[in-house]
Amino acid sequence: MKYTNQQLQELGLATLPAHIVIIMDGNGRWAKGRSLPRAAGHKAGVERLRELIRFSSDAGIAALTLYAFSSENWVRPEPEVRVLCNLLVEYFNKEIAELHENQVRIRAIGDLNAFPQRVQKAVRAAEEKTAQNAGLKLNIALNYGAQAELLRAAQACSARAIETGRLPEKADFEAQLYTADLPEVDLMIRTSGEQRLSNFLLYQLAYAELYFTPCFWPDFTKEEYIKALRDYNARGRRFGGL
Ligand code: FPP
Repeated sequence: MKYTNQQLQELGLATLPAHIVIIMDGNGRWAKGRSLPRAAGHKAGVERLRELIRFSSDAGIAALTLYAFSSENWVRPEPEVRVLCNLLVEYFNKEIAELHENQVRIRAIGDLNAFPQRVQKAVRAAEEKTAQNAGLKLNIALNYGAQAELLRAAQACSARAIETGRLPEKADFEAQLYTADLPEVDLMIRTSGEQRLSNFLLYQLAYAELYFTPCFWPDFTKEEYIKALRDYNARGRRFGGL
C-alpha cells in the first residue's frame, strides 16, 4: 500500500530523501550477544531487509543502495563467505517475485566477476527480470569498493581523453560511476555504532547527511528507519550556502 502525502506528513516525513544508502553493520555482534553463530546474524539481517525495502517502496523513495558485500569482505573465513553467498542466492531467488510485483528495479553495483557462478546468475536474472520496472531503484553493492570504482572511472576517462584529445568534464566522470543514472545521495545510514564510511560511495556521499545509530542491523526495524528519516527531516541542508 502506497503512503499518501498526508500519511507521510503525519509520520513526520514531509521531506523524503531521494536516495538513501545503508551500511548494514553489526550482524556478527548481534549474533554474539545471543550466543548464536555469526551465520544466524546474517540470516536475521536478511530478514530485516524485506520490511525496509517494502517501506521505502511504499513511501515513494526513488533509490535505495545497500552495502551487502565489500571488496574487503573476502578476507573473512571461507565458511562465512559461503554463508553470505548462499544468502544472496536465496534472497534473489525467493524475493524476486514480490519485488517485481512492487515495480522494484534491482541492480548490482561492484565487480560481480569475483563471485561464484551461482551468485552471478541469480543476480543477473533478478536484474533482467526487473530492468523495466519504474518503482524503487534498489541497488545492492557486491564486491564493491569506492577506491576501485573511482580508479576504474579515472581509467575510462583517461582512455577516452587519449582517443578524443579532450579532457573529461564532471558529467563525463560521473557517467562512469555505478550510480550514473541515480539521484544524488541525500542520506547515509550506518548501523552498529561504527562511525566511518568503510570505502562506500566516497564520491557520491559528498553532500549526504550522515546518520549513525548504535542499533545492530538485525534490530534496525521499520520504526528505527522512520526515526532516521525523521532526523533527516529535521536537518537544515545548505550545500555550502548560508
Ligand atoms: C555486517 O555485519 C554485514 C555484512 C558484512 C553483510 C551484510 C549482509 C546481509 C545483511 C545479508 C546479505 C544481503 C542481501 C542483499 C541478501 P558484520 O558481519 O560485519 O557484523 P560485525 O561487525 O558485528 O561482525
